[in-house]
Amino acid sequence: MIVTIDGVAASGKSSVASGVARALNIPYLSSGLLYRAATWAALSQRLPLTDAAPLLSLLNRWEADGTPLTLRPLPQGNEIWVGEQNVTDLLHTTEVDAHVSAAAQLPELRAWVDAQLHRISPPFVAEGRDMGTAVFPQAQAKFYLEASARVRAQRRVQERPQDLESVEAALRLRDERDARQSAPAPDAVHIDTGSGTLEQIIAQVLSHLPAPP
Ligand code: C5P
Repeated sequence: MIVTIDGVAASGKSSVASGVARALNIPYLSSGLLYRAATWAALSQRLPLTDAAPLLSLLNRWEADGTPLTLRPLPQGNEIWVGEQNVTDLLHTTEVDAHVSAAAQLPELRAWVDAQLHRISPPFVAEGRDMGTAVFPQAQAKFYLEASARVRAQRRVQERPQDLESVEAALRLRDERDARQSAPAPDAVHIDTGSGTLEQIIAQVLSHLPAPP
């Protein structure tokens, strides 16, 4: 079974996807983490984000050298490794946040991310922007999470104290830049994560899943 959970930035996708995956005892895959990792790789090597070729050749070289950039969907959460180095903690910086949408516009990078995800065998819950539309259109159940920009910004500020107005402005900007790949699948169930607890939203998702055969 494949379950897709798409939605706008900070709509609670990771928390909901990981809760649903835990309830089903299957892994969850964060596609956003792969975009963040590729963006971090480009920034750390001072590669341009206007041209996919240098970034793709870096990713291919790491793979050929036996130090590939890989997504590890572990029970405690998704991690990104480059060879034997865990780089997950480097992927949620303000700098990566500011550049990831530009990288995500590169069709060659989107194809690379999709190929990484297609290497993993189902069952899983896949979370991102286009999981139910472009990457796993055959998924058995699709969800689209939404919440107002203010609610999403408040959530981020609760996680890490920072200025609410600037967090909200940055989220709105990322929404705009991500709009192209963020259209909901026509067959997705929409869930507003602005009201209700995390447990209630997870239960809502689980209630829509097809019964096992
Ligand atoms: O999910 P998260 O907010 O961490 O994703 C980071 C960025 O990766 C998004 O802002 C978007 O630019 C890109 N992304 C994407 N398609 C996906 C997942 C993420 O374009 N399926």
